[in-house]
Amino acid sequence: MGKPLALDEQAKKTLLRKIPHGLYICGVKDGEEVNGFTASWIMQASFQPPLVVNCVKTDSISHRMIKNSGVFALSFLEEGQKELAQNFFKPMRRVGNKFEEIEFYLGETGCPIIQDSLGYIECNVVGSVEHGDHTVYVGEVIAAGIHREGNPLLLEQTGWNYGG
Ligand SMILES: Cc1cc2nc3c(=O)[nH]c(=O)nc-3n(C[C@H](O)[C@H](O)[C@H](O)COP(=O)(O)O)c2cc1C
Repeated sequence: MGKPLALDEQAKKTLLRKIPHGLYICGVKDGEEVNGFTASWIMQASFQPPLVVNCVKTDSISHRMIKNSGVFALSFLEEGQKELAQNFFKPMRRVGNKFEEIEFYLGETGCPIIQDSLGYIECNVVGSVEHGDHTVYVGEVIAAGIHREGNPLLLEQTGWNYGG
């Protein structure tokens, strides 16, 4: 796994930023403690069993929490819910409890689920790739629920970037 000799950094960045992403609140727990963060690097990875991948920043509190508990939940945001997404960018280390003014409930895994979202899936971690500044967690979907109909919030609608 050698480093490419002459990676075109600009081309890499431009193209990686064209990969389409949705925006989610990833709810996590560790014992009694709960937390959540805005996640975009999510995709389906298998039909049977149903798997998703969730790439999580190694220096975040949430990374440690997923590693310890082996579970996470994804709440699906609706178009227009930028403010909610923004609330969960902030690291717990700096802002403390991000759920203070947000309505949520605990799912089957014990992870927090945002009430005002389109719906959620909950996952057991069944594998991981720890390489680089994000860990690829592979989650098997063990629960799901719909709160309401609606279109998803997409990263490209927001003017924000996470990628490159
Ligand atoms: C648009 C956007 C998308 C993001 N997507 C991810 C992601 O897919 N994975 C990730 O680990 N962090 C992502 N983040 C960063 C986390 O939301 C951020 O690191 C958060 O503060 C972590 O919270 P914690 O330290 O309380 O766990 C994203 C941030 C932004 C602004």
